[in-house]
Amino acid sequence: MAQPTGMNGPRKLYVKSYGCQMNVYDSRRMADTLAPEGFVETTQIEDADLVILNTCHIREKAADKVYSELGRIRQMKDAAAREGRNITIGVAGCIAQAEGEEILRREKAVDIVVGPQSYHRLPQLLERAKRFGRAIDTEFPVEDKFDALAQPSKDSIRARGVTAFVTVQEGCDKFCTFCVVPYTRGAEMSRPVAKIVDEAERLADAGVREITLIGQNVNAYHGEGTDGRTWGLGRLLAQIAEIPGIARLRYSTSHPNDIDDALIEAHRDLPAVMPHLHLPVQSGSDRILAAMNRRHTRADYFRAIERLRDAQPGITFTSDFIIGFPGETEQDFRDTMSLAADVRFVSAYSFKYSPRPGTPAADMSEQVPEEIKSERLLELQASIDNIQAAFNRDCVGQTFDVLFEKEGRKPGQTVGRSVNLQPVHVDAVIAPGTILPVRVDTLHAYSLFGALADTSVPRHQNEALAMAGV
Ligand code: 5AD
Ligand code: SF4
Repeated sequence: MAQPTGMNGPRKLYVKSYGCQMNVYDSRRMADTLAPEGFVETTQIEDADLVILNTCHIREKAADKVYSELGRIRQMKDAAAREGRNITIGVAGCIAQAEGEEILRREKAVDIVVGPQSYHRLPQLLERAKRFGRAIDTEFPVEDKFDALAQPSKDSIRARGVTAFVTVQEGCDKFCTFCVVPYTRGAEMSRPVAKIVDEAERLADAGVREITLIGQNVNAYHGEGTDGRTWGLGRLLAQIAEIPGIARLRYSTSHPNDIDDALIEAHRDLPAVMPHLHLPVQSGSDRILAAMNRRHTRADYFRAIERLRDAQPGITFTSDFIIGFPGETEQDFRDTMSLAADVRFVSAYSFKYSPRPGTPAADMSEQVPEEIKSERLLELQASIDNIQAAFNRDCVGQTFDVLFEKEGRKPGQTVGRSVNLQPVHVDAVIAPGTILPVRVDTLHAYSLFGALADTSVPRHQNEALAMAGV
């Protein structure tokens, strides 16, 4: 076992996350697991004894970024070695899972490759790398990594702020034809309710006010309930909403096909469930949705939106779009544009289709030329930006609740988030974790600025906007 501290004090760990929120969560848990081994986190890569890149394989660009970062890190490692200092380099995440040994061949600076299901084995991998030079683990082990990963201390939760992620589900069985996730994260698995509630209670106890339940397919959650039966996400949300201190609940990322009645009821009945949902649609064309194997139509998507709006009036939506999927015609793209306009997403991520090795769509004929993808992407993004700007403008003059998170950039300023996750700045010193109504006066880019309001107002921003007729 490694000593808690070296000759020059504790060893320093630098973790960089790419890609999704699950990687952000996993990075925190890796840091928690390495803390008892004597590692403290640093924000300066130059100071680190151990650098871990928690990588993303979802699009080619994400993978390229990691390899160019590894090139820079190699130079840093070589320079440190000339001064007699050893830096250990680890590659974690979905590239580690997808490329495994290939990473060691391609980048000589890498000492450790660890797949997303093996993070609890990091201490042993470090030992192995020390003894044998390099170590790799991309197994899908039988033991539950969540049981084996260390929990953060109360102090480290406090240091991380008043909002937190909790993984409730991992993996995906849907096999959309463009997506690597079912291969890199494996089959769907749900954590038992008791474990999730325990983690959420610990977070609440250390001052966390908002929890986002995360999973690649979070609303396909089907974990063991406290009564021994299988619970869905709606029931899980209801259980977590009971925890004292938890004021806001979110979940991400959802699939339109897994919205059951209990989840709709959670939106209707639980004030903590935020009226703001990320619901990826990918395309507005039935032909393309079928080729993507999304297993829902455009009409199904509208129906899901309608049910949620009926349950929680004023609910807003964000989405993901893929532009230039193989075979996408001008008409298919128009269908995507019209869907975006009809739903009025308050923001969205849109990506050019990126063929991923090993996925069915990569081998489809009729790949769309890059220039057309770029043109269409710009057009969609401009349209969504316009909708987002209009929504932000509508917020000016309104009063609604803000969860304050941290000091602002200027002294005496505090910044928080609206229910729609817009940053809201106030010229006042407010304790993080406080929820107070703010009257919004101005808008700068994507941020709102306002002053504390002394009136009692509707709980949620979207109710306030709805009451104002927006
Ligand atoms: N090309 C482009 N975008 C992709 N996504 C997933 N796979 C690909 C791909 N091959 C996008 C989807 C998904 C988001 C996380 O990434 O929109 O919802
Ligand atoms: Fe990928 Fe589709 Fe699964 Fe989402 S639902 S992770 S896009 S395969």
